[in-house]
Amino acid sequence: MVKFLTLLAFCCFQLAYPQQPLYKQAEIPIEKRIKDLLKRMTVEEKILQLNQYKLGANTNINNIGAASNEIPAGIGSLIYFGGDPEFRNQIQKKAVEESRLGIPILFGYDIIHGCRTLYPIPLAQACSWNLDLVKTNSSMSAKETVLSGVDWVFSPMIDVSRDPRWGRVAEGYGEDPYVNAVFGVATIQGYQGTSLSDPYSVAACLKHYVGYGMSEGGRDYRYSNISKQSLWETYLPSFEAGINAGAATVMSSFNDISGIPATSNYYTLTEILKKRWKHDGFVVSDWNAIEQLINQGVAQDKKEAGMKAFLAGVEMDMIDNIYLEHFKELLAEKKISIQSIDEAVTRILRVKFRLGLFENPYTTIIEKEKRYLQPESIKNAAKLAEESIVLLKNENNILPISPLLKKIALVGPMAKDKQNLMGSWSGYAKSADVETIFSGMEKEFSNKAQLNYAKGCDFDGDDESGFEEAIKVANQSDIIVVCLGERRVWSGENASRSTLSLPIIQEKLVEELKKTGKPIVLILSNGRPIELERLEKFSDAILEIWQPGVAGGTPVAGIVSGRINPSAKLAITFPLVTGQIPTYYNMRPSAREAKLGAYQDKPTEPLYWFGHGLSYTTYKYSEATLSSPRIKPSEKLTVQVKVTNTGDVSGKESVLWYISDPVSSISRPLKELKFFEKKEIPAGNEVVYTFEIDPNRDLAYYDEEGHKILEPGIFYVHVDDQKIKFELLK
Ligand code: NOJ
Repeated sequence: MVKFLTLLAFCCFQLAYPQQPLYKQAEIPIEKRIKDLLKRMTVEEKILQLNQYKLGANTNINNIGAASNEIPAGIGSLIYFGGDPEFRNQIQKKAVEESRLGIPILFGYDIIHGCRTLYPIPLAQACSWNLDLVKTNSSMSAKETVLSGVDWVFSPMIDVSRDPRWGRVAEGYGEDPYVNAVFGVATIQGYQGTSLSDPYSVAACLKHYVGYGMSEGGRDYRYSNISKQSLWETYLPSFEAGINAGAATVMSSFNDISGIPATSNYYTLTEILKKRWKHDGFVVSDWNAIEQLINQGVAQDKKEAGMKAFLAGVEMDMIDNIYLEHFKELLAEKKISIQSIDEAVTRILRVKFRLGLFENPYTTIIEKEKRYLQPESIKNAAKLAEESIVLLKNENNILPISPLLKKIALVGPMAKDKQNLMGSWSGYAKSADVETIFSGMEKEFSNKAQLNYAKGCDFDGDDESGFEEAIKVANQSDIIVVCLGERRVWSGENASRSTLSLPIIQEKLVEELKKTGKPIVLILSNGRPIELERLEKFSDAILEIWQPGVAGGTPVAGIVSGRINPSAKLAITFPLVTGQIPTYYNMRPSAREAKLGAYQDKPTEPLYWFGHGLSYTTYKYSEATLSSPRIKPSEKLTVQVKVTNTGDVSGKESVLWYISDPVSSISRPLKELKFFEKKEIPAGNEVVYTFEIDPNRDLAYYDEEGHKILEPGIFYVHVDDQKIKFELLK
C-alpha cells in the first residue's frame, strides 16, 4: 500500500512537473544527449535518420528529376530546393511535433558560391589569392542560407582538377593541392563560424571525396585511375586540411578510384577519414551514387549497393531510398549490424545537436527585403569579383582604355547577358539581380565616352547576320571591347567538353572585327580555361572575368577604365591547345631535357601558366634572403623578399612561394606551392614578404601509405623567377 501511494505521488509529481527527456536538455553534454536519444529510438526511426529526401521542385539546371516526395516526419535530412523559410518551418513542425521523438530535420542545399547574392565561381575566387575575402563572403553567404531555411551547404568542393575539359573545374579551386586546401579552409571557416550553433552558421560539406577531378578524359562520372602515391600527395591533402578545420560533413564522390568506387571505398571512407583523421561527423553519398554502384560493376542490385556503401562508411543515403528499403532486411540477415547503424545515427545526430537544431529547429523569419542582397554583401561580391578578374594579356598597355579614346564599341553575346554570368550552381540567385557588363560600362563611362553596342552573334550556332552591325559599330569607334564566353550550362556537373575553344562563330566574330584595324580588348566569361590559340592573336588585351555572379559589371568596367588595378593570378593553367592537357605547373620532371618529348605539331608550353596575371603597375622583386643556408628538421627557416611597386598606381601583389626537392626517394614535382600572401603596395612603396619554412610541413612528403617522409639534403625555395638553395640537415 505504501509502495502504491509512493508511486502515485511520484506520478502526480511527474504530471505536474514533467521532466524533459535528457536529450532535450540543452545543458547536458552532446554525447550524453545522443546516447539517451539513441536508447529511445526504434530500429525504424534509426533507419529513417540515415536517409535524405528532396523537397520542392528541382529547378537546378545541373540536377535531374523533379517532384517532391511525401516527407516522413522522422526523415533524417532534406535537400531543400525551395529556399522559403516558412515552408521549411512547416515541414520542420511536422518533424518536431508529429514524430514520436521530435528529432529535427537537417535541411541541406547546394549553396556553392553564394545563396541569393551570388559570388564569382570558386575557380575565380582562387585567382583572387585573398583568403580573408573568401572567408567573409562565405560567412555572408551562410547568413543568407540560414535565412532561407537551410542548415547545411554542399560545399566547398576541393577536388584538385587538372583537366579543364571536366566541367566541374569551375566548382573548385584549380589545379593545386595547397590552393584547394587553404581556400577550402577559408570557406569552411566562413560557413561554420566560431561555432556551428551560432545563429548564422551552416554546416559545411567537403566534396567530392575523393579523386573526382581525375575523371578519365575529363568526362564526368567516369573511372579515375589514381595511384596511391597521387591519392596521398595530390587528392587527399585538401580533404585532410578541411577535416582539421572542423568540416562537419563529407560527400562521397561518383568516381571509381582505381577499381573501388569512392562510395564503397572502405580505405578512403573509414581507414583514412574516420580512423586516421578521426572525423566524427557523417558522410553523405552523392545524388544516386549508391544505386550507381550497380552501374560501376561492384553490386548486383540495390540491396548489395546499399550494404557496400554503408559498410564502407557512407552514413546518409542521398535520395536513393536504398537504406530505407533494405536495411531491415540486411539487419535480419546479419549483413549489417545494429551497432553500425547506431554509430551512423550517432554521427548524424551529432551534427544536428552541434547545429543547435534541437533547441532552435525553426528558421527566424525576417522581412524579405532584409534577408538577401544587402548592400554589404553586394559590396563584397563586387570586391571578390574585382580581385578575381585576371588580366591575361595587355599589349602596348592598351588597358586601361585611354581617356582619349572617346568611342567604345561594346560587342558580343556576353555584353548584355545576365544568365551566363551566374555560372553553374547558382543557389537561390535570380538572373534579374545580375549586373551586366553593359550596365557596368554605361555607369563607368557615362559622360566620358560613348558606348556603341552590337551583339554580333550568339554563343554558338552559325548565324552571322549580326556581324555587319558589329563591324559597323566597330568602325564608328576608337576601340573594340568584345565580350565572349561560355553559356553557364557548358561548365558544372555533367558538362564536359572535348575542346576548350569557344564555338567557331565567336572566334569568327573577333577575326572579322580585327579587320577594322581597331584595337581589341577581349573580355571572357567562362567556367574553365579556354583554348585561346587563335583568339589571342586577334586580341590586344584579354581580361578573364570568369563567371562573376551578381556584381560583376562594375568591377569589369572599373578595370577597363583603370579605376581598379587588376590583381588576380591564375589558379589553373591555360593550355595553348586542348591537346596539351594535362598542363599543370607541379608536374614531375621529364627524363630528358625539355625540348625532347615536345609536340611536333604545336608548342609544348601552355599559353598562360598557373600564377600568371598582369597588373597596371610594375613590381620589382629584391634578391630573396634566407635566415640560414641550412636547418635542422626541428628548426624553422625564414625567407624574405622585398617587393617595390615601381609603377604609377597602387596595386595588390600576391607573392607565391614554392619549394622543390631535386633528389628524393620518391620523385617530387618540379616545384610545389607552399605559401602565398597578397598585400597592397602603394605606388613607389616597398613591402617585405616573409615565408617561414617549417620542414615537417613544407619539406616532408607523403609516401603511398600516407606516411610523411622528411629526407635531409638540398632543397630550393622559389619566388618570382628566383631559385634559392638551402640544405636540410639530419
Ligand atoms: C550531384 C553533385 O555531384 C553534387 O555536387 C551535389 O551536391 C548533389 N548533386 C546535390 O545536388
